[in-house]
Amino acid sequence: MASAPACTVILGTGGTIAGRAAAPREALRYAAAQIGVAELVAAVPALAGVELEAEQVAQVDSKDMGPPVWTALVQAVVRHLARAEVSGLVVTHGTDTLEETALLLHRLLAPAKPVVLTAAMRPATSLQADGPANLCDAVTVARTPGARGVVAVMAGTVFRPEGLRKHHTWKLDAFAAGDEGALGQVVDGQLRQHRAWPDARPLGAHLLPPAGAPWPRVEIVTSHAGADGRLVDLLCADGVDGIVLAGTGNGTLSQGLEQAEQRAQQAGVAVWRASRCAAGGIVGLEPGGLASAGSAAALSPAQARVALTLTLLEQRARVP
Ligand code: SIN
Repeated sequence: MASAPACTVILGTGGTIAGRAAAPREALRYAAAQIGVAELVAAVPALAGVELEAEQVAQVDSKDMGPPVWTALVQAVVRHLARAEVSGLVVTHGTDTLEETALLLHRLLAPAKPVVLTAAMRPATSLQADGPANLCDAVTVARTPGARGVVAVMAGTVFRPEGLRKHHTWKLDAFAAGDEGALGQVVDGQLRQHRAWPDARPLGAHLLPPAGAPWPRVEIVTSHAGADGRLVDLLCADGVDGIVLAGTGNGTLSQGLEQAEQRAQQAGVAVWRASRCAAGGIVGLEPGGLASAGSAAALSPAQARVALTLTLLEQRARVP
């Protein structure tokens, strides 16, 4: 009888988890993306004896994440998921745009095997380094029987991708799940699961443009006191393909921004609204009102931007 697949592949992309500071007490001043993923894995004694492979896909501070690294990452994830001997993947990432990459992978692939993103809020050289424990927890989740889909693991909590947000600038427990709550916790090396694995209709990796080809250009504009909408007009004049408007409260916009939104839509620019509030999404849309702008549910503006980009790529794929 064939044995169950047992190999976990760890894909490194950089971030603070791979960061180095000048001294062990330096927790916040450091350079991200310095240490290779194989070295990170080798430095965790608890992972000795676990069947692992490490591959460096990129080495970036995730503030600079974007189409080139996303394309390479999606290709690597697809390649390893197709291997029968691989039961799941872990992706080490920076915290700053982790929620965007998680949503991108989830919407594109919705894989039957687990793809677990993890990160750290302290560099690997810090006395408070949280990377080793996060990496161990991520491997635990990736090797949990029945695990599937794209999730993220930080500070012992397992998050589903939709609605995930980095909500704190320096605490180790820096992520929030939104109103739907976390999938579970890793306690004592075991997953305690409270909610279902994430599911979606995968759009497919074929949707991504070939390496080097342009992605739709989608920008985020925030509504605020005195927002007059000129930024939206400038973006339209500059040929933007889509705009996410990060509205106040339940997705409302200043009058100036609302008028600019209408001009943008008339000019053929795709406009979605999200909320600049940290939780709750946009609820109770009036027919012909906010809904006409397209709702981005409980997605943060950054996640809504990823979702709109994918929608525009789907539209592009339908044009013969
Ligand atoms: C990054 O996002 O790459 C830097 C910050 C972090 O990982 O916490």
